[in-house]
Amino acid sequence: MTVTDDLIKRAAKDLAAASHVVALTGAGISVESGIPPFRGKGGLWEKIDPMEYAHIDAFLRDPAKVWGVLIKEMKDVVDQALPNDAHKGLARLEDLGLLKTVITQNVDGLHQAAGNTDVIEFHGSFAWQKCMDCHNRCETRKINLEQIPPRCNCGGIFRPEVIFFGELIPPQHLSRSQLAASQCDIMLVIGTSAVVQPASLMPVISKESGAKVIEINPERTPLTGTVSDYIILGKAGEVTRKIVTEVEQLIS
Ligand code: OAD
Repeated sequence: MTVTDDLIKRAAKDLAAASHVVALTGAGISVESGIPPFRGKGGLWEKIDPMEYAHIDAFLRDPAKVWGVLIKEMKDVVDQALPNDAHKGLARLEDLGLLKTVITQNVDGLHQAAGNTDVIEFHGSFAWQKCMDCHNRCETRKINLEQIPPRCNCGGIFRPEVIFFGELIPPQHLSRSQLAASQCDIMLVIGTSAVVQPASLMPVISKESGAKVIEINPERTPLTGTVSDYIILGKAGEVTRKIVTEVEQLIS
C-alpha cells in the first residue's frame, strides 16, 4: 500500500468518526472540470497580470479591456464546466450527514451544481452580473457579448458579482465562514494554494478551535506541516472519490 493509500484510509476513518465537517476549496478542485487555476503551471496569472486585469482599479479604468480578456475567457470556460468527482464527493458527504458547509474561493458554481446546499462563495459568484449604475442583475450565461463591455438597458456597464483584487470580502460571507470554521471538527482543505487572505486563515481558525485539518492537493502549501495535520498529495477528484468510497463502507 502506498503512503497516499494509507492517508486516504486515515482520512476516511477521521471523516466517518466526525460529526461536523467543513470544506475550504480553491481553484484546484475545479481543475479536473477544465477550469485552469490561477497560480502555478498553466495558471491564469502566468498568462495575464492580475494587477492589470483582476484589480478593481484596472476594471474601472478600462472595463472593455478587462471584459475582452479576463471576463470573456472566464465565461467561455465556466459555461462549459461540469462538477467533477471532488465536487460530487463533497455533495455525497453532505448526503451522508457529515459535511455541513463548503467555503469556496471559486466563483464557478460547481459545488451547488453538484448538490451541496450550504455554500459560502467567499469571492462572490460568476453566475450573475450587476449593472454598475442601476444595480439590475442579469445571469452571466444570458449576457449579450455583441457589445464589449456589455451594458444594461439603462446604459450602465455590467460587472460580474465577484470580488476583484482591491475589494472587500462581503462582511456576511466573512463572518459566516469564520463561524463555520470555528464550529467544525474536521476541515477539509482542497485545491487551494492558501496564499490569499483572509480565506487562507479559515483553516487556522479551525485548528485553533480544536479541529483536525486535512489537505488534498498535488503540492504542499504554506499550511502543510504547520496548520494541517496531514496532506494527501494527489488530484482532488481522484482522492476525494476514493475517500468517499471508503467512508461509505465504514458507516454502512
Ligand atoms: P491557486 O491557483 O492559487 O491555487 C490552486 C491550487 O490547486 C494549488 O495549490 C495547486 O497545487 C492545486 N491544484 C492544482 N491541480 C489540482 C487538482 N487537480 N486537484 C487539487 N488541487 C490542485 O487557487 P486559489 O488558492 O483558489 O481570488 O487562489 C485563491 C484566490 O487567488 C482565488 O480565489 C482568486 C485568486 O487570485 C480572486 O480572484 C479574488
